Amino acid sequence: MTVLLKQTYTETIDPGVGYRNVGSNHIYLYIPSFFFLLTTLYSLFPSLPMPSSFRFAVISDPHIALPQTIWDHPSRFHLVEISIPAIELVLEQIAPLDIDFLLLPGDLTQHGEPENHRWLSERLAQLPYPVCVVPGNHDVPEYLATDRSIGLSDFALYYEQFGYSDPAQPYYLCEVIPGVQVIGLNSNFFDPAGKQINMGRVDDQQLDWLKNTLAEVKDDVVMVMIHHNVIEHLPGQAKNPLGRRYMLENASTLLEVLNTAEVKLLFTGHLHVQDVARHQSIYEITTGSLVSYPHPYRVLEFQQDYQGNQSVRVESGRVTEVPGWANLPHFSREWIGDRSFPFMLRLLTQPPLNLPVHEAEKLAPMLRYFWADIAEGDAVFHFPSFPPELNHYFKQFGAIDQNGELQRIDNFTLLTLQ
Ligand SMILES: [Fe+2]
Ligand SMILES: [Fe+2]
Repeated sequence: MTVLLKQTYTETIDPGVGYRNVGSNHIYLYIPSFFFLLTTLYSLFPSLPMPSSFRFAVISDPHIALPQTIWDHPSRFHLVEISIPAIELVLEQIAPLDIDFLLLPGDLTQHGEPENHRWLSERLAQLPYPVCVVPGNHDVPEYLATDRSIGLSDFALYYEQFGYSDPAQPYYLCEVIPGVQVIGLNSNFFDPAGKQINMGRVDDQQLDWLKNTLAEVKDDVVMVMIHHNVIEHLPGQAKNPLGRRYMLENASTLLEVLNTAEVKLLFTGHLHVQDVARHQSIYEITTGSLVSYPHPYRVLEFQQDYQGNQSVRVESGRVTEVPGWANLPHFSREWIGDRSFPFMLRLLTQPPLNLPVHEAEKLAPMLRYFWADIAEGDAVFHFPSFPPELNHYFKQFGAIDQNGELQRIDNFTLLTLQ
């Protein structure tokens, strides 16, 4: 008897050179005796963990905008002009990687325009691997469709092939490969007038469905995808007036459900930041936006060994050039820097810092690249000219753990799942 074992190795992505330099090769080994031994072992002990590995990619917040749908808006943070060439480039770069599936955790379009949703769903339909999406706040700006945007009930119809087996339901379970389940949740929540509330929320009906669904797939590898952040990615994010709108209002309830079901992997977007955060045994991997600095995407590899030990290798790539935008990292870093002053002023004058405006106005220019550096992930902050307590506050936004030790895990890391 023979078995086909797929061994995979991946060259590390170089974050600073070219578009991306990921290559992969598969070596197929025919090892008759090894297979015989395994078959015997698993027939004697059917409860032994099966070794497995699979690879997938994440593209978040692509904010797709066809040229005729782009508004001229001077303070816009999203560089939507590059949305289509950027996603085309990433799809081209991941094409040789033999990925098993692709995840897109929301903000698929800039303002929920039907033509942008149509363009993306048609483009995703051409891909040779399964794709799962969830809606972001930009995808369904209002509960009901308007003359410019689709409504929540339309979303599943546009993306029926990408997770939504029941088009009447804006959340789903999708078995992307045998034994691997992706759960896509809807975190958009609307007031009685149909306008989005600022923070995301998973409603009670969805939570009930989630509990039942998790019980049904408890023996599989389960990954959950949702647009809003569930675990804090910034110090004090859930309480900070600037940071909390990126989180789920009922994050603790969702975390409890996920913890109980021993879900270990969460994928989010929305914050436009490369960050990996942990709560108990759950990792939340949030991926930055394809249309804002540093224009990242991720390629991940899940592995389970014979003892049942699970790990995920996380790598990240970037778009560094598209036609007409030769020095994209420099341009988009300055783009954020040019728009940062009012936000830094708010950060300095609002709780917890509460600085007087005249003092904040002096400090804000020195924070010109603060947000761009956070978005890049793995940053280290030190502002020696700031008062010590202020310097300490900003240091906490860097890649350090609770003990102040450097932990660069936002872009390239190996996560051990426990
Ligand atoms: Fe976004
Ligand atoms: Fe968003």
